[in-house]
Amino acid sequence: MNSIRLRSFSHFFLALFLTLAAVGNSSAQDVGAAPAVSKEGVTPGSSNAGNASAAAAPAAAATPGAGGGDAAAIAAGDALFKGNCAQCHAVNDVVVGPALAGITKRRPVSWLIPWIKNSSKVVASGDEYAVKLFNQYQKQQMPSFQLSDQEITSILAWVTSQEGGAKAATGGGAGTDKADPATDTKLGADAGGAGQYADVLLIVLVVVLIVLVVTLVIIANIMKDVLRGRKDLDGRDVEILEQRFDWSKLYKSSAIRIGAGVVFTLVILYESVQGAMGVGLTQGYQPTQPIAFSHKLHAGENQINCAYCHTSVYKSKSANIPSANICMNCHSQIKTESQEIKKIYRAIERKQPIQWVRIHNLPDLAYFNHSQHTQVGGIECQTCHGPIQNMEVVYQYSPLTMGWCINCHRETPLNTKGNGYYNNLVKLHDQANGAAPFTVSSNGGTECSKCHY
Ligand code: HEC
Ligand code: HEC
Ligand code: HEC
Ligand code: HEC
Ligand code: HEC
Ligand code: HEC
Repeated sequence: MNSIRLRSFSHFFLALFLTLAAVGNSSAQDVGAAPAVSKEGVTPGSSNAGNASAAAAPAAAATPGAGGGDAAAIAAGDALFKGNCAQCHAVNDVVVGPALAGITKRRPVSWLIPWIKNSSKVVASGDEYAVKLFNQYQKQQMPSFQLSDQEITSILAWVTSQEGGAKAATGGGAGTDKADPATDTKLGADAGGAGQYADVLLIVLVVVLIVLVVTLVIIANIMKDVLRGRKDLDGRDVEILEQRFDWSKLYKSSAIRIGAGVVFTLVILYESVQGAMGVGLTQGYQPTQPIAFSHKLHAGENQINCAYCHTSVYKSKSANIPSANICMNCHSQIKTESQEIKKIYRAIERKQPIQWVRIHNLPDLAYFNHSQHTQVGGIECQTCHGPIQNMEVVYQYSPLTMGWCINCHRETPLNTKGNGYYNNLVKLHDQANGAAPFTVSSNGGTECSKCHY
């Protein structure tokens, strides 16, 4: 047995193992990172409001596949699904009707189109699958839909694009979820399945390697024992056989010391810069609220419109927090025995408001107006607040820094359609610099005095 070959073998595996461990560690850090706001996160239109887009559905429906591409069809399908189907269907869960994941594999499109247009006709025709499904769902009739074939295909395209994604599919669209790593860690709702597979593969590989290394160490020890029993080894072989790893040499090596010093300094520098940049930032802030009120339950699953509770969000500067009376519209009847709901009753009896903990809070030196953004600008709540409809407990999704405001103002085209106020401005802008889009900043949205005065 050649001991030298054995040694280089185990070194090779050790090196491989360390490389993989390093890769695994860095990707784990990606997952755990603070909810960074990617570019999509602040671009209006990339977000898909849970119920707000129900209202936007007709608009999207009017231009299905406007861009002609798949992405456009999927986006149109998303809006159509939310507007027409979401109250009864989710992609990966049974709601009122079956989960729609894999539907295009279960049924041909030539069956699905007539079914969605008029399911009772298909059941009445005696179609075996339809009758069985109808009975399985307690003879509940799915309503008929006046949708075009193209609109139905775009819904199916959207459903297919959501398959395998976690529960996020019920509320947020692909846009919001992918743009938000926070959902990943906070809610376990990650629509990007590919990342998960990579992680699983990595874990499997690491486990396999650990097993390999352990086996090799055991084999090496057995070999050593066998070799020690042999008398015909020359001096060199004995030396290799008996050698121990000398840690003190490693410690004394100046190259290693300098290397460690440099790494240490870099880490400290990086951490302090990061820390300094984060002073005063409260991104990710998620306080515990006095009542376990869930946006996921109300705005997500029960599809209550944001403005039902935040009544002033389209009309005034601030979005109000609803008073207990609004809760009572429903909770005078619903879940009256729940301990959490009884807290609402107690607040009303004592004539004291519920003491919600404020999450978003700009300093007084900055002026921000909700109606300007939601009503005039047509920006979805989710663009700034993230997938609220998936949040059990609300957290601050965006950094709320000046740079965040300004970046969006630089990139976002003004919503000038049907707004006579802008007619002349748009004309002047197009004359002056035709090709450049007419953004908020072209209209002065990055001037200091717009936000500070
Ligand atoms: C009011 C509730 C309701 C709405 C809204 C609704 N569905 Fe359904 N859907 C059902 C039920 C219930 C079934 C099960 C079959 C039955 O009982 O008729 C079903 C079945 C289906 C099936 C067959 C599923 C399978 O597993 O084979 C498809 C496809 C489907 N629905 C698509 C849609 C689409 C697309 C929309 C929106 C355009 C929609 N549904 C809107 C209730 C609804
Ligand atoms: C049933 C009523 C209700 C609905 C519907 C509702 N909210 Fe809320 N919202 C509340 C209450 C109560 C609070 C305060 C408690 C909390 O933070 O969870 C709140 C808090 C918030 C906050 C944090 C406010 C702060 O303190 O900074 C945001 C942002 C928010 N809601 C956005 C939304 C959006 C977006 C929607 C629609 C997708 C929505 N809400 C739908 C009741 C509601
Ligand atoms: C439009 C109707 C509606 C309004 C308004 C509403 N809720 Fe709800 N709420 C519901 C429904 C529906 C449920 C789910 C009941 C169930 O799970 O059976 C629920 C559940 C809850 C629960 C969970 C109760 C439990 O023990 O499971 C809490 C807490 C709650 N609501 C608090 C509030 C608060 C606080 C407000 C006011 C800011 C509010 N709700 C406003 C409809 C409403
Ligand atoms: C352009 C970004 C943006 C959009 C779009 C937006 N918000 Fe806000 N929201 C903010 C900022 C910034 C604050 C903090 C305001 C402050 O502290 O003065 C905030 C605060 C809030 C608050 C806490 C109360 C308040 O006014 O300070 C609620 C509730 C809220 N938003 C709900 C909503 C809802 C509901 C929508 C959608 C209809 C929405 N927001 C759309 C940026 C946005
Ligand atoms: C998601 C993109 C987005 C973000 C983030 C955003 N804004 Fe805006 N903002 C807009 C748009 C779009 C308009 C133009 C609305 C319109 O008038 O059509 C606007 C307009 C404004 C205006 C009026 C500008 C004018 O020309 O009259 C002010 C003031 C303003 N925003 C302040 C803020 C502040 C402060 C923040 C950060 C806390 C912020 N915005 C964050 C998109 C954004
Ligand atoms: C689109 C809105 C917007 C515009 C335009 C804007 N700011 Fe700001 N600014 C903010 C917001 C929001 C904050 C608060 C950020 C925070 O708390 O981190 C801020 C913070 C600041 C601060 C820091 C104050 C402190 O105590 O930390 C200074 C200084 C400042 N702005 C100066 C300016 C100057 C100078 C301009 C013009 C070149 C300008 N801003 C344009 C929104 C804006």
